[in-house]
Amino acid sequence: MNNVVIRSSGRYLPEKVISNDHFAQFLDTSDEWIQERTGIRERRFAGPDEKNSDMGTAAASQCLERAGLAADDVDLIICATVTGDRIFPATANFIQENLGNHSAWSFDVNAACGGFVYALSIAYGLLASGINKRALVIGSEKMTSILDFTDRATCVLFGDGAGALLLEAVDPADNPQGFGIKHFELGTDGSLAYKLWQPDGGSAHPPSPDSLLRHGHYVHMSGREVYTNAVRKMDQIVEDVIAKAGFTPEDIDWYVPHQANKRIIDSVRERLGMPEERFVLNIDRYGNTTSATIPIGIDELYTDNKLADGQKLVLMTFGAGFTWGSTYLEWGYPPAGGGAK
Ligand code: UT7
Repeated sequence: MNNVVIRSSGRYLPEKVISNDHFAQFLDTSDEWIQERTGIRERRFAGPDEKNSDMGTAAASQCLERAGLAADDVDLIICATVTGDRIFPATANFIQENLGNHSAWSFDVNAACGGFVYALSIAYGLLASGINKRALVIGSEKMTSILDFTDRATCVLFGDGAGALLLEAVDPADNPQGFGIKHFELGTDGSLAYKLWQPDGGSAHPPSPDSLLRHGHYVHMSGREVYTNAVRKMDQIVEDVIAKAGFTPEDIDWYVPHQANKRIIDSVRERLGMPEERFVLNIDRYGNTTSATIPIGIDELYTDNKLADGQKLVLMTFGAGFTWGSTYLEWGYPPAGGGAK
């Protein structure tokens, strides 16, 4: 089995900043409510001509640039998204085309907020087994394309953006410090699928004038139920993945949680007994970018120079589906010559 290490990261956030006050102009809401109940101050909205694949391409290009690699050095591209450019083909294929890559196979993962951790686990398996050598794993969302701007309970929560990681298969003999991705905890509960979903637009209810009238092609959420399940499940999968790795919460340098609600993150953090400084937060600036929150968070750690070789990271997420996942990894890229040839 190969080791699987992270070689570089990237992110893209649209320029347009939308404050909470923006929503108070046309909805019965306030900056105070949104900040207090969610931790969100502002979010980014993509422009009308800015596609999901454009954002994913920007994040992926940054990964390649930072690694000093060409597009064709990658043989796998996975995009986690629920707001792809088209229902088919996969947004990952448009990203492949934009990058000018001709050597990868590519596909999307549809697991909402669980998407990035799911995609990471798939890439891990393909690289560890030797099927692929180098992967771009992208989380990219244009949530504004499926938001109901008449529903104050959902539209204030989400934002647009993309993040990406470049993973590489490494021979364990070339990785004496043992850097890389180590463990996952993953799960799904389809019985609660309708608690957070986009009811129309697929083959069960294809787009129609009727679906437009009932706002069926937008995000619908039973917020409270999602909230309680998110706290319960994230508590469990974080503890489980840390135990699997043989550590205690205190041993973990960085926690990178999905950013759905600061109160959910605080609750998990307090249960672990960890200070705020160990938790990556970007919900205040970007809102919930669904599958992009975790790679954006990792990239922020990277560009803020907060990551050191050997540091222990735990990623955790919960979202629509319901889907959930946690990952334990040790940051670092082995010395030259260690990576995929
Ligand atoms: O990333 C995918 C996973 N998503 C999540 O994990 C989201 C989980 N859910 C949540 O984060 C929270 O449930 C919300 C932020 C969505 C809502 O917060 P809450 O404290 O659970 O509020 P609630 O749904 O219980 O609603 C309380 C009140 C209601 O009014 P009434 O019925 O008590 O009069 C809502 O209508 O707050 C009202 N409300 C708002 N008020 C002002 C809901 N949204 C807003 C709003 N502004 N934007």
